[in-house]
Amino acid sequence: MTPNPGLRLVKRDASGVDLAFRSDVLLGLAQIQKAVPARWFYDDAGSQLFEDITQLTEYYPTRAEAEILQGRSGEIADLIGPGRAVVEFGSGSSVKTPLLLSAISPSAYVPLDIAGDFLRASSAELAAKFPGLPVYPVEADFMRRVELPSEVADLPKLGFFPGSTIGNMIARTATDLLRSMRETLGTGALLLIGMDLVKDEDVLIAAYDDAAGVTAAFNLNLLTRINRELGGDIPIAAFRHEARWNDTFARIEMHLVAQSDIAFTVSGEQFAMSAGTSIHTENSHKFTRRSGQTLLAAGGWEPRARWADSAGQFLLVLAEACPPRSAP
Ligand code: AVJ
Repeated sequence: MTPNPGLRLVKRDASGVDLAFRSDVLLGLAQIQKAVPARWFYDDAGSQLFEDITQLTEYYPTRAEAEILQGRSGEIADLIGPGRAVVEFGSGSSVKTPLLLSAISPSAYVPLDIAGDFLRASSAELAAKFPGLPVYPVEADFMRRVELPSEVADLPKLGFFPGSTIGNMIARTATDLLRSMRETLGTGALLLIGMDLVKDEDVLIAAYDDAAGVTAAFNLNLLTRINRELGGDIPIAAFRHEARWNDTFARIEMHLVAQSDIAFTVSGEQFAMSAGTSIHTENSHKFTRRSGQTLLAAGGWEPRARWADSAGQFLLVLAEACPPRSAP
């Protein structure tokens, strides 16, 4: 099922340390505003905690997007049409992917993910649910152009990027990704993309700082992962989870704030933090219809339809790859 089973994307040193993880962490901790990219949240424990987040009362995006996929399935199917290869950027969620695949009549399903184990597990689950549908998982970093399996070469493509994961990226990175998606999917491609909307600050903060503390555990798990995988001695109990609204950039930021002056070691390198300073661990940009449209246009995509959930919290956009052309 895997087209290139010999491919190893994760480079490790002799003791099994993920080299990209180590360099991201060491570089990020050496900055004045310490920061670690959000992609490192998702080890096994982090992936499970994210699943738990999607079940929280306060975390509306997953439910809102599922409501749209279910309630608007007829319109979505009419605009997409049958026979496309659905290329999902990420391993696929157990709820949203089946909703899309049963709404339209796809010819193939191609999930792209850098985490091979997770990819194979979720692909097998999906294939069992849709016995007639060919599934071709590809282990790849979709931030770059991906070579799709030859079996889908002649099929029209539908990219699927749910969850407002695009919001994790700053505008420049998001634009790069949208452009490489266009290259991966080819001419005539469509893209179905989730974008979380700007809304009342209290609602946003609650979604990223829930009463049960699941998001706090998700954020703090990053420190547990650093200590375990990079031989760190970060005093985890000295950190508190914080969700902040950054109005300038229209984004929720997650931080891990030091509660006292601390010093620690990671991979043999020493770091110090004073009380009140933080490690910035995630951006989750929120969009308006206009800002979403501007971002898509910068990436070479033109919206064809947009659907919001009944509470107006989340937007699902169907966009078409723009042909190159002159314009004022
Ligand atoms: C998976 C990136 C869409 O930003 O809402 C959830 C991750 N972080 N709670 C988001 C997340 C904290 C989520 N995305």
